[in-house]
Amino acid sequence: MRNQIIVCENHQEIGDVVATIFAESTTTKPNCVWGLATGASPIPVYKKLCDFYEAEDLDCSQVTTFNLDEYAGRGPGDPDSYYEFMHQHLFDKIPFKKNYLPDAKHSTELDELNESGIRYDAIIDKVGGIDIMLVGIGTNGHIAFNEPSDIISKGTQGVILTEQTRHDNALKFYDGNIDAVPKYALSMGMMSILQSNKIVLIANGPAKALAIRNALYGPITPKCPASLLQLHPNVTFVVDEAAYSLCK
Ligand code: F6R
Repeated sequence: MRNQIIVCENHQEIGDVVATIFAESTTTKPNCVWGLATGASPIPVYKKLCDFYEAEDLDCSQVTTFNLDEYAGRGPGDPDSYYEFMHQHLFDKIPFKKNYLPDAKHSTELDELNESGIRYDAIIDKVGGIDIMLVGIGTNGHIAFNEPSDIISKGTQGVILTEQTRHDNALKFYDGNIDAVPKYALSMGMMSILQSNKIVLIANGPAKALAIRNALYGPITPKCPASLLQLHPNVTFVVDEAAYSLCK
């Protein structure tokens, strides 16, 4: 299968297209394993999946999910955790077999995060790996919280967020207050992501245009983690016109 690029008119259409891809994955494999992202990009995807469920067009009762990342020190009960984000947008609305997120609540140091990451990867291995993985992309080309680097990350591990990522997320979720964004996180590694059977990358808006061009057509390098997706045989990019604007 060759990699595919789907250019949508707007963010809403990205949601419709990607929710349809994920819903179809449950028709072909009812017990499939999904990898999921947080952030602004996937919100319309989750909204559309909820619509499908309401209309009785989606059954996730046998689906297991694994999220990409979590902020260090955050977790259940913390409104700013990715755990609560996922419950608000998806998990409290659609019944799944099981939802896993990286456990970073009690880990604020990198070595504690790394230990937790090893346990997370063991659970992913136990269920047989991820069938279909949803990823967003950072303005710096990061995937999950794999920031630009000289090396390719392997499994789930503690990471130090860049100023750029903390700045971007502060603008989107914390009224620009960078101090509200933790400095560390626990993130699936690039090698784990690349082991998924299928990857769907979503991006909207002009701020993502350079990252999308580098991901699709730039050199394959961990300095732009998204460019490593060029090594994978089954990736679908679902982007809007603005995010695709530098690719023409
Ligand atoms: C979030 C994640 C991040 C985001 C990326 C884009 O779980 O893994 O890589 O996908 O930072 O964020 P948004 O969608 O907010 O632009």
